[in-house]
Amino acid sequence: MSTPLLEVEDLSLRFGAPGGAVHALDKVGFTLRAGETLGLVGESGSGKSVTALALAGLLDGGAHLQARRLSFQGRDLLAADGRPDAAAWQGLRGRRIGFVFQSPRRALHPLRSIGYQLQQVLRTHRKLSAAEARRAALGWIDRVGLADPERRMKAFAHQLSGGQCQRVMIALALAGEPELLIADEPTTGLDVSTQARVLDLVAGLARERGLATLLITHDLALAAQRCERIAVMHAGQLVETLPAGTLREGAAHPYTRQLLRATPQSVSTLSGLRSVDGALPDLSRNDLPACRFAGRCAQAEARCHTHAPAPTRHGAQHVLRCWVPARARTGGHTDPQPLAIAA
Ligand SMILES: Nc1ncnc2c1ncn2[C@@H]1O[C@H](COP(=O)(O)OP(=O)(O)O)[C@@H](O)[C@H]1O
Ligand SMILES: [Mg+2]
Repeated sequence: MSTPLLEVEDLSLRFGAPGGAVHALDKVGFTLRAGETLGLVGESGSGKSVTALALAGLLDGGAHLQARRLSFQGRDLLAADGRPDAAAWQGLRGRRIGFVFQSPRRALHPLRSIGYQLQQVLRTHRKLSAAEARRAALGWIDRVGLADPERRMKAFAHQLSGGQCQRVMIALALAGEPELLIADEPTTGLDVSTQARVLDLVAGLARERGLATLLITHDLALAAQRCERIAVMHAGQLVETLPAGTLREGAAHPYTRQLLRATPQSVSTLSGLRSVDGALPDLSRNDLPACRFAGRCAQAEARCHTHAPAPTRHGAQHVLRCWVPARARTGGHTDPQPLAIAA
């Protein structure tokens, strides 16, 4: 197999705060290959956005990031002390790594037209002439499904709806023709057909030129439909990573199984992920259980509170962090509770 595009190993993140630190990420690890779409799912507050920001080198000074390995196209993004090397990200963001912020309106320049912002990306990163950049900008506006591209070119962020800002942000992220797209809830708030159009565009780019995508979503059904692999995050820990096609029957972490039971068949709603028992632990606690799901897990044993389970491989692409996975508990049978998620 070729070298992964993105390699992340033991990525931990702490925010320093006056009242105590927030332990936002704990030893997160995964890889992403060219052309692959990995879905990062989890409840609100589980650490998806901070993972995205960390991977794009976009965290501010209050963030203390540490990793064993963080590399893009085999190139190390960390300094010798394991902290981010800001210089290594220069030239990557915008050009090789496209980023869609969870709040696109805030990420768009308030005083520059949409056309200006798109043409800037195309001229800077694609080295297009003014005339070529204008043509390409019109094309991108059309490809993300915004009507009347000529008029949109002249618009400013405050003149657009949230969904339109989202699509402009996606066009901006893709216009540099990156190898990696990090998209944080890119289609939340879009209607179903626009959502499909945007995700079809990304899938087409994956096929045509090997675009890899980290698709962040709270919507497990959407991730299962659109991604090859799913990474499940709980309270800053990746608890399970597995192929989307084996999710329904192969998921073994108690948290993943709860998410599956809470996910409606096809309708994408927020309520699904909210109906998991209990609440996320307070990440500013100094006595977080070693497995951060232990406090919500009906199967937790004493060691779950004291010893963090190491990521264990349960198949070619199945990685699990759990002392008492579902398969072991049920003696090889799948959870007897019927799962509603679409295959
Ligand atoms: N700048 C920050 N300072 C302190 N804590 C933060 C900061 N940004 C995020 N967090 C905390 O990190 C955790 C993960 O947040 P986030 O990544 O936004 O979750 P998600 O995107 O999964 O909803 C939350 O507990 C959040 O409060
Ligand atoms: Mg988020």
